[in-house]
Amino acid sequence: MRRKIVAGNWKMNKTFSEAQELMNQLSTYQKKHTSGCEVYIAPPSLYLTAAMDIFTQHEVRVFSQEVSLHTEGAFTGEISVDMLSSIRATGTLIGHSERRQYHGETDANCNKKVKLALDKGLIPIYCNGETLEQRKSGQHFNVIKDQTEVALFSLTPDEIKKVVIAYEPVWAIGTGETASPEQAQEIHAYIRGLIAEKYGQEVADEVSILYGGSVKPDNAKEIFSKPDVDGGLIGGASLKIDDFTAIIKAFD
Ligand code: 13P
Repeated sequence: MRRKIVAGNWKMNKTFSEAQELMNQLSTYQKKHTSGCEVYIAPPSLYLTAAMDIFTQHEVRVFSQEVSLHTEGAFTGEISVDMLSSIRATGTLIGHSERRQYHGETDANCNKKVKLALDKGLIPIYCNGETLEQRKSGQHFNVIKDQTEVALFSLTPDEIKKVVIAYEPVWAIGTGETASPEQAQEIHAYIRGLIAEKYGQEVADEVSILYGGSVKPDNAKEIFSKPDVDGGLIGGASLKIDDFTAIIKAFD
C-alpha cells in the first residue's frame, strides 16, 4: 500500500518562537483530527530537536531538509545520518532543487545520500524535477529518467520501496505557477513506469510519489486526486497553519 503523505518543507523560514508556535498548532490539529494522510515537516535543522520534543506521539513526523554525504568528521556546517537517527528523526529530504541550484547537489551524490539514509533506517524523500528550459525544449522526460535512474536504481527492491519520491518541477516552485493535475499525473505515471520496468509493477505500486510546486489549499484536492499522485511536498503554504491544515484536509 502506498502511503498518502502531506509534507511541509519550511526552507529557511521562521524564528524559533514562530517555529514553536506553528509546531504546537500543528500538533494540536493532528491530535484532534484523524487525517487521511501522514503528515511530515522539514523545519530548519536548528529546530529539529525542538520538533522532536513537541511531536512526541508521532502525530507529525520530523524530517531534515538536507543531510551530509559524509558520515562524520571535519565537515563544518553539515549534519550526518547518525545525528538524524540519534534524535529519532524520521528521514530527510535529498536532492531538493534549491540544493541542486545553489549548492551543487548532483544525482550521484543523492544516490550516496539515499543509501546512507536507508542504512540508518531513515526515510529519504528524493526530489527531482525539470527546469523551465528543459520543459520548453521537451527534455523533461529524459531529465526525470536520468535523475531517477542515477539516484535510485542501484537500490534493491526492498530499499526502493522505502523511498518517497517528490516530483517538483523547478518552474513551479515558489512561482505561484502550478503544474496542472494532468501534467503532474503524466510525470508521476512516467516515474512509476520507470520503476515498474526496472523492479516490476508490484514494487512500483508501493512507492509513494509526491507532487511539489505551488500546492495551495485551492488546488491540493484536484492534484492529489490523480491516480499516481500520493500527496504533496509543500513549501510556502506549509508556513501558515490554516493553509497547511486545509491541504491535509484534502485527504479527508
Ligand atoms: P512551494 O510550495 O513554495 O512552491 O515550494 C515547493 C517546494 O519546493 C517544496 O519542497
